[in-house]
Amino acid sequence: MRMKKKKHGSERLNLLSQLTATDIESFFENKDEIFENKSPLRIEIGCGKGDFVVGKSVKESEYNYLAIEKIADVCTLAVENYAGSRGLGSLAPNGGWQKPNGEIYSLGETVPFEKSELGNVRFLVGDAKEILAKLPDNSVDAIYVNFCDPWSKKGHTKRRLTYIEFLKMYSRILTKDGKFYFKTDNRPLFDFSLEEVEKSPLKLEYHTFDLHASEMDKDNIRTEYERNFSEKGFKINMLIAKNNK
Ligand SMILES: C[S@@+](CC[C@H](N)C(=O)[O-])C[C@H]1O[C@@H](n2cnc3c(N)ncnc32)[C@H](O)[C@@H]1O
Repeated sequence: MRMKKKKHGSERLNLLSQLTATDIESFFENKDEIFENKSPLRIEIGCGKGDFVVGKSVKESEYNYLAIEKIADVCTLAVENYAGSRGLGSLAPNGGWQKPNGEIYSLGETVPFEKSELGNVRFLVGDAKEILAKLPDNSVDAIYVNFCDPWSKKGHTKRRLTYIEFLKMYSRILTKDGKFYFKTDNRPLFDFSLEEVEKSPLKLEYHTFDLHASEMDKDNIRTEYERNFSEKGFKINMLIAKNNK
């Protein structure tokens, strides 16, 4: 996702820092306290502006979610999107944050929320490759990758989030029955991903080359990229792979 650097991006993120994790180790160690429950953890890699995880947090509210995004300014938009969806307020005219009761917080401050208001999603800025490598075995219920960069050049294959080494890592951190969900408009990337799954410890459970025409669409949450590509006439591919350790 390309975007111009946001003025005051990090301060905006800091305003809502109760919704972000600072590092994966302490997040994972304290997640039951953070969420005030022991629900299974699901991870979205590359959440962009957060539409998917916001939708999931409501539709499948019996899970906790960690949304990872490597670009801080993009993550800021996702956090603000989620906070807005939970009725925690909106951007204030002074560039800070305004709570529904009218209280305004300025850049440089942190908005105080009750723990119980924060819901079942937290956000983490960083590269998923480094973050996931620090998670223990069998610790995650599901992993979602939606419309990741295709890295089309041949020399860039290893950067694809469905390259075999990533799939092995997903298998390691997924629970025994955990699942990997992947959507893309990019057919060459999808074909590559099907081949990688075949070679991996994951087992293909379902795939479609036209998600929006399939029976799976009724439970599908469309992401920003999905809406854009679909409007341009691209078919959306999806696969679900089950852990097969
Ligand atoms: C093409 S956008 C798609 C955004 C969103 N998932 C959607 O479907 O609308 C891919 C996003 O993944 C992020 N991303 C790419 N590689 C990543 C990585 N290794 N770790 C974390 N985020 C990553 C990018 O910064 C970008 O925001």
